Amino acid sequence: MLKLVVCVSGGGTNLQAILDAIESGVITNAEVAAVVSNNANARALERAKQHGIPGILLRPGDYPDRAAFDRAFTEEMCRLAPDLIVLAGFLVRIPGEMVERFPDRIVNIHPSLIPSFCGVGYYGLKVHEKVLERGAKVTGATVHFVNEGMDEGPIIAQKAVEVQEDDTPQSLQKRVMEQAEWILLPQAIDDIANNRLRVEDGRVRHI
Ligand code: GRF
Repeated sequence: MLKLVVCVSGGGTNLQAILDAIESGVITNAEVAAVVSNNANARALERAKQHGIPGILLRPGDYPDRAAFDRAFTEEMCRLAPDLIVLAGFLVRIPGEMVERFPDRIVNIHPSLIPSFCGVGYYGLKVHEKVLERGAKVTGATVHFVNEGMDEGPIIAQKAVEVQEDDTPQSLQKRVMEQAEWILLPQAIDDIANNRLRVEDGRVRHI
């Protein structure tokens, strides 16, 4: 049974997609042991509570400096001892020490086709604003392993979504979530839970 800890900062629709996929059997051999958030008001914490899953609040502002937060965050994650850490709309930088302790055991969902529209400053609605500003005709989502870079880890899977001429950032975000994110993340977790992925020379192979 793959033990998951899911990190969230906002609405938690990706967390909900994971919970629904476990309930429906789309994801097998996995369970969400805890949800960690930096935001006390995150709706995602409410979703966890409704499923009887412990919510843990870890806010950088509660610590004297970033190094102290990073240490506490890493120590808490080691205490939870997940097999896989899932970043589902988590807006806090992952400490390098945590990446080292959990090599190829942290995944992130990003709302674009990496390497487009990613990296510092590209998160949430901003990504879709930039896609529309650029006039891109296709966008999508990417699930990838997390390394020490920002959105630079080995890509697990991607799914393309058409940009429509009358799209707003909000309508595009909704379509990318519905048609890509909420499908890709559960599928990747199920693949990992059932040993269907291997990372070789920085690239992910499905076996
Ligand atoms: C999603 O668009 C995800 O791709 C990005 O942040 C957003 C989180 O949404 N990382 P939610 O909290 O899962 O609803």
